[in-house]
Amino acid sequence: MKDTYILGIETSCDETSCSIVKNGHEEINTVILSQVDIHTLYGGVVPEIASRNHIKDIVFVIDKCLKDSKIKIDDISAIAVTHGPGLVGSLLVGLEAAKTISYIYNKPLVPVHHIRSHIYANNLEKKMTFPLMTLIISGGHTELLYMKNHFDYEIVGRTLDDAVGECYDKVGRVLNIPYPAGPVIDKLAHKGSPSYNLPLPLNDDSFNFSYSGLKSAVINLVHNLEQKGNTLNKEDLACSFQNIVVDSLTSKTIKAMKKYNVKNLILAGGVAANKGIREKFDTLAKENGFDFSYPNIKYCTDNATMVAAAGYFLYKEGKVSTLEINADSGAKFE
Ligand code: KG4
Ligand code: ZN
Repeated sequence: MKDTYILGIETSCDETSCSIVKNGHEEINTVILSQVDIHTLYGGVVPEIASRNHIKDIVFVIDKCLKDSKIKIDDISAIAVTHGPGLVGSLLVGLEAAKTISYIYNKPLVPVHHIRSHIYANNLEKKMTFPLMTLIISGGHTELLYMKNHFDYEIVGRTLDDAVGECYDKVGRVLNIPYPAGPVIDKLAHKGSPSYNLPLPLNDDSFNFSYSGLKSAVINLVHNLEQKGNTLNKEDLACSFQNIVVDSLTSKTIKAMKKYNVKNLILAGGVAANKGIREKFDTLAKENGFDFSYPNIKYCTDNATMVAAAGYFLYKEGKVSTLEINADSGAKFE
């Protein structure tokens, strides 16, 4: 069978990325230009700065990806691109670049929802086996998704307020940890002990999550300690906080897997890089006899490799778009 090469483009937030993936699972080449060093200065992503940098970098990133891959544009079957959700100015840059290539070289355009891309980061590691449960944990999302196959799925639960990555970043801010705080809190947590008392969020029968109460509890605790002139043990607080996050995510996920009788679990999104979460699920997988896998750390945060991987399955299913498609900053994954 002839190989299918998809060129993916990702610019939904602060990474400008292009990648070529073969048959939905084999990375040929990826280029990622991260703007993290720029946005760290402001304590978070500044949308206007993000889109200006995408404009500056996009042509270079696509050109370098193609040249270094040694794949000719004629061998590319389709152009996959993130159309939403994300920052509208950022999305537009990638989408316009993808449309231009699609028009000039007469290649089908495949719009990819950002959540779908994060899920397919798993397929680059190991072929996804259905039915499966996927826990999507990123800076913008916290969702449990039951997938019967590539295109038949059901959202089982989601956060009612903050996303888990957002909660990490906001807790980081009060602890003077630069954005993105998730990886630093994860490291600190492994050096501390859970000596601070924090509330378990939304400990109910639903499969939904809630992180704004936990975030406020941490912020209040830090302010109270400061007012009283008491010293704060950052490692212990990181450990206490992360333990609660891990407990809330794992307990609801395991309950959902039992209800839906699913034996495969995958993680998706930037927070899937978290060591504490991976370790707990590893233990639970052994105890409960299910298969657990997660993307390579380099595919957890935003990249075009996962866009091209997801784009392959959409392309094979004929889910292509006209050039009329617009960026959709609030695109729902339904
Ligand atoms: O998926 P992503 O790149 O962006 C969105 O699509 O939202 O995820 C970025 C998020 C940030 O909130 C960052 O703090 C978090 O992922 N993150 C982590 C870790 N690595 C990245 N959170 C907890 N532990 C980590 N090791
Ligand atoms: Zn993302």
